[in-house]
Amino acid sequence: MENGKKGFSTRSIHHGYDPYAGVGSLTPPVYMSSTFAFPTVEDGGARFSGEQAGYVYGRLGNPTTALLEARLADLEGGEAAVVTSSGQGATTTLLYTILESGDELIVDQTLYGCTYAFMHRGLAKMNIRVKHVDLTDPVALVGAIGPNTRGIFFETPANPNLRVVDIEAICRIAKARGLWTAVDNTYATPYLQRPIELGADYVVHSATKYLGGHGDLLAGAIIGPRDVMNEVRNFGLKDMTGAVLSSQDAHLVLRGIKTLAVRMDRHCDNAEAVVAFLATHPKVVHIDYPGYAKSVGYCVAQRQMKRPGAMMAIEVVGGFEGGKRMLNALEVFIRAVSLGDCESLAQHPASMTHSFYTKEERELHLISEGLVRLSVGLEDKEDLIADLKQALDRV
Ligand SMILES: Cc1ncc(COP(=O)(O)O)c(C=O)c1O
Repeated sequence: MENGKKGFSTRSIHHGYDPYAGVGSLTPPVYMSSTFAFPTVEDGGARFSGEQAGYVYGRLGNPTTALLEARLADLEGGEAAVVTSSGQGATTTLLYTILESGDELIVDQTLYGCTYAFMHRGLAKMNIRVKHVDLTDPVALVGAIGPNTRGIFFETPANPNLRVVDIEAICRIAKARGLWTAVDNTYATPYLQRPIELGADYVVHSATKYLGGHGDLLAGAIIGPRDVMNEVRNFGLKDMTGAVLSSQDAHLVLRGIKTLAVRMDRHCDNAEAVVAFLATHPKVVHIDYPGYAKSVGYCVAQRQMKRPGAMMAIEVVGGFEGGKRMLNALEVFIRAVSLGDCESLAQHPASMTHSFYTKEERELHLISEGLVRLSVGLEDKEDLIADLKQALDRV
């Protein structure tokens, strides 16, 4: 129990909701209302100006999404949160709010495909320069910071190649130069890694993945200081993206978070067993997994993650064709993009999530043509290993 707080699982289940306060409903009610009534014109005016607390209109907040925001802020160790209709909505809403035309943003060499597209096509349109730097080497960051640099954005572990960035080292350099740091914590979740406690200013999530956990919704979240989150809500979300999360989906994410710790431990157990099998298989030529001692990011991951998660990037013999053959032979693993679901998923970034990069861009951003990404789910580990074995036999 940190800082006198209750434990992670207890807070995942209880934080921010008192079942005795209303009609006694064990689970929080789902408020399905696009707008909210004002007792008087004066009350309406006071709510718009912020002098009076209370709800105004669904694009600005709703009691169900507010509960999810309070819970996520607590779990990530941040002051406040804003939830969004997707992870993409979280990244765009945050960056539209905190960047200005003429600014420069430093990002790692590897990014989720649509984050990359948003930065190179979307932010570029607003005259915001995006500079890729190898953030696994903090010294490289020092040399890359220029007069217009405003902030640093990275994923760790990164999608799809599982690069691990030392959050504490990067944040220390950024803070000393007056820059903010934003970390996409989708792969780890706050159960395994809490960037704000390591010095980051902002965390973004695709809650579509482990936080929701059941592959039945899209959602996102931004966590950070309260004053900036107010601006993110009142400008970024309300005026720029409108990427508002529905109360039903917020309810499903709240339900998913209740089992986050239990699921993540089982995801990690399964992934560790799968990696132990893959590491001895003659047809597997490379494994990137934060818990695999031969992976580059292993030591940093040991320091900053409670456990290594359940995402891995592997290469099999035969490169692109070998990977394709293996994917097509899988029977328990489902061929699909996304991650963090109960079902184990397998995808091939060069022909799927990162197919809109040119071959040269993939090379530059360290996404090899043969990389196969596995999201290890919650099935019996023996079945997952047997499935991988029969698929590898056909390579
Ligand atoms: C690391 C990461 N960030 C952001 C996103 C975008 O999330 P969403 O699909 O919920 O918009 C994804 C989606 O795969 C992701 O993997």
